[in-house]
Amino acid sequence: MDAFLLKGPVRLLGTVRASGAKNAALPALAAALLTDAPVTLDEVPDLADVDTMDRLLAGMGVSIDRPAPGRMVLDASRVTSTEAPYDLVRRMRASILVLGPLVARFGEARVSLPGGCAIGVRPVDLHLMALEAMGARIAVENGYIHAHVSRVGRGTGRLTGTTIRFPSPTVTGTENVLFAAALAKGTTVIENAAMEPEVEDAARLLTTMGARVAGAGTATITVEGVDRLSGTGKASHTIVPDRIEAGTYLAAGAITGGDVTVTRARARDLEAFLDALRRAGVGVEVTADAVRVFGGRPLEAVDIETAPHPGFPTDLQAQFLALMTQAKGTSRLVETIFENRFLHAVELARLGADVRVDGRAAIVRGPTSLEGAPVTASDLRASAALVLAGLVARGETRVRRIYHLDRGYAAMDERLRSLGASVERIDG
Ligand code: EPZ
Repeated sequence: MDAFLLKGPVRLLGTVRASGAKNAALPALAAALLTDAPVTLDEVPDLADVDTMDRLLAGMGVSIDRPAPGRMVLDASRVTSTEAPYDLVRRMRASILVLGPLVARFGEARVSLPGGCAIGVRPVDLHLMALEAMGARIAVENGYIHAHVSRVGRGTGRLTGTTIRFPSPTVTGTENVLFAAALAKGTTVIENAAMEPEVEDAARLLTTMGARVAGAGTATITVEGVDRLSGTGKASHTIVPDRIEAGTYLAAGAITGGDVTVTRARARDLEAFLDALRRAGVGVEVTADAVRVFGGRPLEAVDIETAPHPGFPTDLQAQFLALMTQAKGTSRLVETIFENRFLHAVELARLGADVRVDGRAAIVRGPTSLEGAPVTASDLRASAALVLAGLVARGETRVRRIYHLDRGYAAMDERLRSLGASVERIDG
């Protein structure tokens, strides 16, 4: 069952609730490795990537309980292995997030190199540079990262705090250093840190666990290492809402000229994206914990350039490109974060979009009327863009390899149907 069959055009109307963020849940699960006390998480999204991280942690001996929907209790008091094997890491690059916690707590780790994916090479050199600077010995052999902190001689087996200056922001790189620094000896300062809300959420969880973190969400984060961390105690950590999932449903409302509200969405996490929607002529209404888009005016072409937070999110570029196929004029979308993140363009052209890719820029001319056709998803956010286009394309659009979508969107077909879409999951 790995295709969506969509019938368009439709106009979406209604309300959906944002899940917990995939890119906050994955670091939160990895952070449970930092302590021998239970960690309770709420609003954990029901996603394939979360299941993969579960399997990875369970393989290390972490016990994981799911007592209620969205709630997860992790207990890393009996970790039996510090290895992240290739067959799981190759499925999900975010597995690299176990590296920092393993080295910090156990002084060693053996993690398969994540390798690249459809959107780029995705190196982890900055993660390794940072851990080496904190005293880890790193060797890369046979596709594995071997990290350990020496106990020989004056070696204490414990990482040492230092100043880490990233040449460019890295989200999971910042999170790995946060985790490593929480248990290191002394103070760590991360300069040019990633400022994404998911980094801030990871720091909030660490603080609940007893870590001393200041400046998360800004470009400079300071961590005072402690000897051990507690769990979440009687409290639990609620995963921050998924701004990318929220933005995707808002784009779906906008492309169909509908009226869609996403609750539990934090507008402050989406400012650059909402600004681009407003410039495109989309009605945007913000309340305390919801964002609403409404159509009515013809869409105008808008230029965007992706950038680290708080810039326009690269994870919403594909969705915005789909929207621009319906906008009057020429829009230029520049992708500055990843080298190959326009795979959706070719597939959108099969539906009738006028889009040309020139290196890091895609040029879209619109509006074009899209005709349903079979298309193939290549990566998580590209598949979301193809679904958005399928909502407005006339006739039937079959989006194949929808397993890409299941990695980052819970029950997208059900949610779209609740907004009035004609979409069903079928055999590819
Ligand atoms: C995180 O990936 C997200 N994943 C990605 O979301 C997101 O697209 C990306 O950040 C950028 O916002 C998770 O949080 C699990 P980076 P990450 O390190 O941390 C280069 C999705 O769709 N770089 O911030 O891997 C890298 O090649 C996914 O949910 C190095 O050169 O991204 C890229 O060009 C896709 N060396 C840039 O930095 C390194 O050691 C930013 O990457 C690390 C990164």
